[in-house]
Amino acid sequence: MSAQIIDGKAVAQDAIAKVKAGAEALAEAHGIVPGLAVVLVGEDPASQVYVASKGRMAKECGFHSVQHTLPADTTQDDLLALIASLNADPAVHGILVQLPLPAGLDERTTIAAIDPAKDVDGLHDISIGRLASGQMDKTLVPCTPKGCMVLLESVYPDGISGLDAVVVGRSNLVGRPVAALLQHANATVTIAHSRTRELPELCRRADVLVAAIGRPEFIKGEWIKPGATVIDVGINRIPAPERGEGKTRLVGDVEFASAAERAAAITPVPGGVGPMTIAMLMANTLNAAERSVG
Ligand code: GUN
Repeated sequence: MSAQIIDGKAVAQDAIAKVKAGAEALAEAHGIVPGLAVVLVGEDPASQVYVASKGRMAKECGFHSVQHTLPADTTQDDLLALIASLNADPAVHGILVQLPLPAGLDERTTIAAIDPAKDVDGLHDISIGRLASGQMDKTLVPCTPKGCMVLLESVYPDGISGLDAVVVGRSNLVGRPVAALLQHANATVTIAHSRTRELPELCRRADVLVAAIGRPEFIKGEWIKPGATVIDVGINRIPAPERGEGKTRLVGDVEFASAAERAAAITPVPGGVGPMTIAMLMANTLNAAERSVG
C-alpha cells in the first residue's frame, strides 16, 4: 500500500481563500477590517521568521496588521502595559504574543493579560477551559490543533466519529488541545507521552495517529496500523551530511517513508501541518472580528 500524501499547502490555500472572502464580506456588511497585532520580545531568529510570515499573511488576507517588537530586557510591567493598550484598541481583533518569551518574562502571566475575545492563539486559561468544556462557539481554538482537524476533515469528509485516535505528546500548545478537539469530534482518544508503556502497541491501535512529541522520526513505520491516518506535527531540523557538509533537513516526529507504506494517508514534513498553523491564525482573527460585531 502507498499512502495518500495529505497536501497541507493546498488545504491551507483553500482556508486562506475562505478567510479572504470572509474578510471582504465583513467589510461590506459592517465596514470592519480584521486587525491582528503580533508581539515579539527579543531577537530569537526562529521567532523573527515566524512573526514576519504571520504579518505577511495577515496583509495578504486584507487585514490591518501591526507588529510590536520589544527588546529582550523588556519588563513584565511594560509588556502588560502594551497588551492592555492592544486590548483597548478597537482596530485590533487578535493579539498574539510570540513564544517562547525571553528569561525574566512569565508566559502564563503574559497570556492571562490578553482579552480572551482577542486570544487568537487560544492559549488563555479561559480559552482552554471553554475548549475543554466543548464551548467551541465561544472560544478561539489553538491554531496548530485546529489545522490538524481541518486536515483530518479532508481525509474523512463524514467525520471521525467512533475512530480510535492516539495523540503522542501532551503539550499545552498541541497535544492537550488536539486531544480535546478529537474527543469533541467523537473519536475515542488516548493521550500518550514519554512515560507511556508499550507505546508501539498503543500506536498500532490508532485509526488516527497524531504525533506531537518533538523528537525526530521517533515513531516508526511498524507502529502504524495498516490503513491509519497519520498527522505529523513535528518539525525537527537534523544534520544531512548526504546533502553536503554542514547541511540540514527537516523531518517530522514520524519515520515518513516506512509509515507511508502502511498508512492510508499521511502528512509530509514540511508541507503538511506547518502551512495550516498560519492559515488557522488568520481564520481565528477573522472569527474574532466577526464576533466583535455580534
Ligand atoms: N511559538 C511556537 N508556536 C507558537 C504558537 O502557536 N503561538 C505562539 N504565540 N508562539 C509560538
